[in-house]
Amino acid sequence: MKNQDITELSWDEFDEMRDPRPEANGFDAVVERAVSRRGFLGGALAFGSGALAMGAGLLSSTTASRAEGMGFAFNPIDIATDHNIHVPEGYQWKVLARWGDALFSDAQDAYSPDTGVDVSKSDRVFGENTDGMELFTDGDKQIITVNSEYVNPKINLPAASDGMPQNADEVMLLKNMQGVTVMEVADTGNGYEIVVDSPYNRRITHETVMTMDGPAAGSDLVKTNADPEGMSPKGTMNNCGSGKTLWGTYLTCEENFNGYFGATGEYDVTDEFQRYGIGGEGRYAYEKFDPRYDLSKEPNEPHRHGWVTEINPLDPNSTPIKHTALGRFKHENAEMVQAADGRVVVYMGDDERGEFIYKFVSNGVYVEGGSTEGLLSDGTLYVAKFNDDMSGEWLALTPDTTGMSIEDILVFSRMAGSKVGATTMDRPEWIAAHPSKAEAYCALTNNKNRGVKPNAGGDDTPVGGPNPRESNNFGQIVRWMPAGADHGAEAFTWDLYVMAGNPNVYDNAYAGSKNVTAGNMFNSPDGMAFSSDGYLWIQTDGDDSNEGEFEGQGNNQMLIGNTETGDIGRFLTAPNGAEVTGLCWSADKKVAFVGIQHPGGSWPDGAGKPRSSVIAVWREDGALIG
Ligand code: FEO
Ligand code: CA
Ligand code: CA
Repeated sequence: MKNQDITELSWDEFDEMRDPRPEANGFDAVVERAVSRRGFLGGALAFGSGALAMGAGLLSSTTASRAEGMGFAFNPIDIATDHNIHVPEGYQWKVLARWGDALFSDAQDAYSPDTGVDVSKSDRVFGENTDGMELFTDGDKQIITVNSEYVNPKINLPAASDGMPQNADEVMLLKNMQGVTVMEVADTGNGYEIVVDSPYNRRITHETVMTMDGPAAGSDLVKTNADPEGMSPKGTMNNCGSGKTLWGTYLTCEENFNGYFGATGEYDVTDEFQRYGIGGEGRYAYEKFDPRYDLSKEPNEPHRHGWVTEINPLDPNSTPIKHTALGRFKHENAEMVQAADGRVVVYMGDDERGEFIYKFVSNGVYVEGGSTEGLLSDGTLYVAKFNDDMSGEWLALTPDTTGMSIEDILVFSRMAGSKVGATTMDRPEWIAAHPSKAEAYCALTNNKNRGVKPNAGGDDTPVGGPNPRESNNFGQIVRWMPAGADHGAEAFTWDLYVMAGNPNVYDNAYAGSKNVTAGNMFNSPDGMAFSSDGYLWIQTDGDDSNEGEFEGQGNNQMLIGNTETGDIGRFLTAPNGAEVTGLCWSADKKVAFVGIQHPGGSWPDGAGKPRSSVIAVWREDGALIG
C-alpha cells in the first residue's frame, strides 16, 4: 500500500484495496438469480414497467425538452462537463463559504491560495470537503451546521509531503479541516454571507471532547488509556450526512472512520476489525504522530467512532453526545421522523457495499417542548429485510435475536445485522422521509460487487429485491411505505422510485427505469432531502468522466424528483471533479444552500487551489424554491 496510491483513492476504493473480497458467486448462480427475478422486475419499478419494452431508440430520442413538460417550476438543464456551476434560467447562485474562509476576524488571513490554511488558525475557519448540513433558527438568527467529511492531503499539505503528513503540525492541520462547522449566516443585501465573529460560530474537530450515552457508553469496549471510564471520547471524524432532531439539534454522522486508524506495532486482527475494515496503515498516517490512532496502543479507540453524534448548534459551549443506541457503522445520515404513537424513529444507512439499512425507535415519546431525556439513548435498533415480493420487515437487534450482548450489538451492529439475516444493500447513502406522508427513500448509490462478491462479513449479495442488477454501477433509489402509515411499524412494503442507467448505451436493465431519459440521466444518487413542498432533491456522487457507460451524464448534478409522477429534472450541475452533497434551505425557503465537495480545476476562485464550498441558489424573482 503506497502512500501515493492512497491519496488518490475514493473511500470506497480505499476499503476495497485494504480488504479485497474473495470471488464468491459462480457465474451460473448469478445468471439464475437474475433470470428468476425477471418476472417481477417491471412490477418492482413503480415508474419503470415500460422501460425495457420501450427500448433504447425511443428513450434515447428524448432530450431535456421532454423534461420541460414535467411540471417543475424550472426548465431542467442540460449536462455540463466544465469547471463551473450551472442552474436553470431564472436562477442565480453565489458562493457562501469556501474551505479556509474565516469564521472569526482573527483568522481572516488564515487561507493562502498558494499554501492553503495556516495550522495555527485551522480551527477558526470553514473546513474542507463540505457535506451534510442543516439550518437552525434562533429568533431571527440563522445558523448553519456543516460537516467536513475528509481532506485532500495533497491540497492541504506542502508539495514536499507527497500527500502524507510529515509531523504533528501537519496532522493537526488535516484533523482541523475535518469535523463540523457551526456558523451564523445572514442575507446582507449582497446575498448570504458568513457572519464573522458571531457568538454561534464554532468548530468541532477531532480534538473536541464529547460524551457518550446509551447502553454501550462506559462499557469495556470503549475504554482507553486516556479515558478509563469510557465516557469521554475525543473528536468526531469523517462526518458525512446529517440529520435534524425534532427538538432542533444537529445530528452528524461518522462514516469512514475506519480509515483513520493504523498500527505502528503488533495488534490483534479481530473479526470485528475485519468487518469494519480496520487495520494496516491509516489513510493519513495519523498513527505515526498521535498514539490515539495507533491500534497497537489504543485498540478500543476505533470503537469510539462510527456513531451518530448530537450537537446543539445554538449553544457554543455545549458538549456533543455520541449516541451508542443508534448503532456503530459507516453512518451516512440520520433521518428523524415520528411514529404514530409519538416515539422517535431514526432511519440510517451504512454506506459500504453489501451493508444494511437500520432504524432506531425510542422507548419514550416526544412531545413538542417536552423533555428529550432518553429519546436517543433508550430504545431498539432494527435492521431492514427486503423480500422479493415487495414486502419487508424491520428485524430487532436484541440479545434474544442475535445471541450477542447489547454492548456488542451496538458496537458491532454489522455483525448483529448479519446474524438476523438483514438484506445486503447496494451502498445505502442518504435516507429522506417525505414531509407529508409516511414514505422514506434511500439512495443506493452503486455496488460493483452486487452478485459478484460477498460483503465484508461474508454475507451473500444476491441479485434481487431492491438490488436488482449485477455489478451495479448506476445505483437506484428504494422507498418504503410503513404498514398503517406508521414509521413505528415493523412491516413495510417497498418499490424502486428510480433505477439510474444509461438509455443511450443500454437497452436492458442498465438503461434505467422509465423515468430515466437521455435528458435527465445520472449515476450514483447519494445526497437526498425533501423540500417542504414534497419534491425530492437528489444529489449525485458518481463517475463524471462522461465516457463509456457514463457518456451523456456529464458532471455530478442535483436533480429534483416528483414522487407522485416519477418525473425527474436536472436542476444544477457541479464543476467537473466535484460531487454535490449537503442541502438545506433558508428560513424563508427562498434560498437553497448546496454543498460542492472536492471540485476540480481552480473552482471557485478561478486560480489557485480548488476549494470545496457551500453555495446559495435562489430565484431571481424572489419566489420560494424550498
Ligand atoms: Fe460520505 Fe457515503 O458518503
Ligand atoms: Ca454521501
Ligand atoms: Ca457517495
